[in-house]
Amino acid sequence: MIWKFRRCFIKFVRALIVNYYYNASNFSPSVYGASLQRPRFVPGKHGNKIQLDNETHLFLYQLVGTWGQILFPKPWKEFRLWYDLHKSKGIKPFLDGMVTNGWYKRMGERIWTPWFIKFIYSRGYFNIYTNFQHERALSVSHRDAGVNYGKTAGPDSQLLDESSLDFNLLEMQPLSNLKWYDYCFREVLPGRVGRTLDEVGSILQTVQKDRSVLLVTIFGGSGTLTRNMLCHFREAKYKELYIDRPLGLNFYLILPEEGIL
Ligand SMILES: *[C@@H]1O[C@H](CO)[C@@H](O)[C@H](O)[C@H]1NC(C)=O
Ligand SMILES: *[C@@H]1O[C@H](CO)[C@@H](O)[C@H](O)[C@H]1NC(C)=O
Repeated sequence: MIWKFRRCFIKFVRALIVNYYYNASNFSPSVYGASLQRPRFVPGKHGNKIQLDNETHLFLYQLVGTWGQILFPKPWKEFRLWYDLHKSKGIKPFLDGMVTNGWYKRMGERIWTPWFIKFIYSRGYFNIYTNFQHERALSVSHRDAGVNYGKTAGPDSQLLDESSLDFNLLEMQPLSNLKWYDYCFREVLPGRVGRTLDEVGSILQTVQKDRSVLLVTIFGGSGTLTRNMLCHFREAKYKELYIDRPLGLNFYLILPEEGIL
């Protein structure tokens, strides 16, 4: 049994790394690793329940796993530097609307997850998770009595057994087919946050097709940058609605020229 489990877990991890780390067409710098534990927890208050269909064996979710987590080297190094910098400035890892704030208040520096969660949020990174039916997972916590559990709670999942597989564990969908979820388990559409004008331009080309409404905020952008951006929108047949707000937080609501309103 143990040998079987090990063999299938190693094969799975190998296929995952070959596919989503070493294969350039499926690599994304936004993916920081993979969790082998069963996804159960949603840290955003008032978040959705984790619900996925039977066909989804792999998906992306922001939350870090606490047992069986694989971390890719570059994001991990980034995190260590980010942590040292924030710690030296006396910053705390609080993030609005997250239950992990309470953990930090209770446990302080004894746990690293609130820090990592905030770092991942600030970078917009995601983790690969598995979704096998019948509470199956590639790593299981036995939840013995100790620091985290007052009394033994028993295994949180069933260890995946290769002999009872009813699907192909090693079939790795292209990254573009996978769904992405944030800390509230809301589906997010990746590649739709633009930090430069070029990125905004390419986002526009994709959303143009489905006539989406865009909400754009410009923080401290120069007049030239703003005019340039609005010009991009007009070229893509969008018209803008400027919403002036106090505190200098102005919004541009970008609407398709026809269809809506
Ligand atoms: C998903 O699995 C459940 C429980 O095993 C089953 O009842 C349902 O029919 C399955 N749905 C699909 C689309 O396969
Ligand atoms: C890399 O990924 C693409 C897209 O999923 C796939 O078509 C291709 O066969 C993969 N290449 C290798 C060497 O596995």
